[in-house]
Amino acid sequence: MTDISHTLIIGGSSGMGFALAARMLAAGQQVTIAGRSSERLDAAATALGTPERLQTHLVDIVDEDSVQRLFADLGPLDHVVVTAVDMSRGYAPLADFALTDARTVIDIKVLGPWLVAKHAGTLTGSLTVTSGIAAYRPGIGGTMVATANAALEGLVRALALELAPLRVNAVSPGWVDTAGMGPVRRRLQSRTPCLDGRETARGTHRPS
Ligand SMILES: NC(=O)c1ccc[n+]([C@@H]2O[C@H](COP(=O)([O-])OP(=O)(O)OC[C@H]3O[C@@H](n4cnc5c(N)ncnc54)[C@H](OP(=O)(O)O)[C@@H]3O)[C@@H](O)[C@H]2O)c1
Repeated sequence: MTDISHTLIIGGSSGMGFALAARMLAAGQQVTIAGRSSERLDAAATALGTPERLQTHLVDIVDEDSVQRLFADLGPLDHVVVTAVDMSRGYAPLADFALTDARTVIDIKVLGPWLVAKHAGTLTGSLTVTSGIAAYRPGIGGTMVATANAALEGLVRALALELAPLRVNAVSPGWVDTAGMGPVRRRLQSRTPCLDGRETARGTHRPS
């Protein structure tokens, strides 16, 4: 009997997934971080101090074969956390939003976690996906991230029923200055009063 669990973090090479990996490793747990770029995974592993309890694995969450390979290679897992996102083309004014870019947001944030749930197999502990404040307080240009985050919350309710007794949750962060979202946040701040730190400090708008 061991109390060391193995957690897969898809999106663990950056931002909140990386922070979670650091916390779990510090707590003595076994962690695999996965993402599309081996360079980013290697840099993250180096920053995490490459302990023996850390593995990296390539995956593209929108590619079903890649997701299946990931779970086949890793074998039994206790927990899976999905923080994968690519917002490089995920915000645009409606009139300029390309359909392919809109589909990419939905593919990564909604269909990706759905593929993970479909192929996670013998997962015994929990599946956690990441929604976000845009579901309730969208920013200008954020039609697709608002849609994806809201859809995810419906998805986890359905998955919790279908995968019971596995625990399935969505966490919904507010704005966090990560490598991926920091530049988006700074662009939106200049155009959206409720994201302006000075407005918030005066209590005019209080993001929750
Ligand atoms: N930061 C915020 O302000 C904020 C607010 C609300 C909600 N959220 C949500 O919180 C989650 C984490 O955000 P974050 O800001 O921490 O993200 P981040 O720093 O941009 O990191 C995203 C991670 O996802 C990976 N990734 C991107 N596309 C992928 C794909 N197709 N397959 C597998 N991995 C992929 C990236 O690595 P590669 O590019 O190498 O694949 C990277 O490791 C996301 O769901 C985001 O929407 C964030």
